[in-house]
Amino acid sequence: MKRRIRLGVNIDHVATVRNARRTFEPDPVHAAVIADLAGADQITLHVREDRRHVNERDLKLIKELIHSRVNLEMAITKEMIELALKVKPHQTTLVPEKRQEITTEGGLDVVGNFEKVKEAVSKLKEAGITVNIFIDPEEEQIRKAKEAGADAVELHTGAYAEAFAENDEEKVKRELNRIKKGAKFAKEIGLKVYAGHGLTYKNVKPIAQIEEIEELNIGHSIVANAILLGMKEAVEKMVRLINE
Ligand code: PXP
Repeated sequence: MKRRIRLGVNIDHVATVRNARRTFEPDPVHAAVIADLAGADQITLHVREDRRHVNERDLKLIKELIHSRVNLEMAITKEMIELALKVKPHQTTLVPEKRQEITTEGGLDVVGNFEKVKEAVSKLKEAGITVNIFIDPEEEQIRKAKEAGADAVELHTGAYAEAFAENDEEKVKRELNRIKKGAKFAKEIGLKVYAGHGLTYKNVKPIAQIEEIEELNIGHSIVANAILLGMKEAVEKMVRLINE
């Protein structure tokens, strides 16, 4: 039977547009419901320390309203662990977080933060939440993620995406091989394997073809396409309205 990959739709950037005007639209909760109805297997969102996009209200409503799974990306802080334990998403993805970064720039350093990661994994798993760790596709990080008790690792595809955007074929090949090798190793040691970050309609196929990968989490490119593909209808509707 053909393998099916789960799609987690990250709706953070719908909230980025909302927050640019400190208003109520577009509502990421509405976006989550539509993505859910359209066939997303999961809604992914990252409540950041500075709440630059989604917030607790969005998380709670999405958890209540959607029928697929909720995947909360979170830094390993006391505040975020408490929030996860309260809202109980189906899955959490542990990510590093720096205030200044534009997006999550590197994978979580599980090797360097082992005890902290292990403690967080254990608290979340005790509450029945699946734990995924976002890491660079490096053997040592993968091994430590398993040792920390994670259920899954999400391999960071950012370097691959960057190489793809630069049209650097050699680098694309190198980065793709790193991800393939990481995926194989992770599966061998008993982890579920996911991938994400910087994936677009143009670069996603070679990643989706990696046999071990069960789930992809994609945000920016889907939101970008939603804005553009919806533009025609939105403008036509306004022209009609003001001329009625
Ligand atoms: N996976 C993780 C762990 C992320 O932090 C992000 C970005 O929030 C994504 C996937 C989605 O990345 P993008 O918006 O580039 O598709």
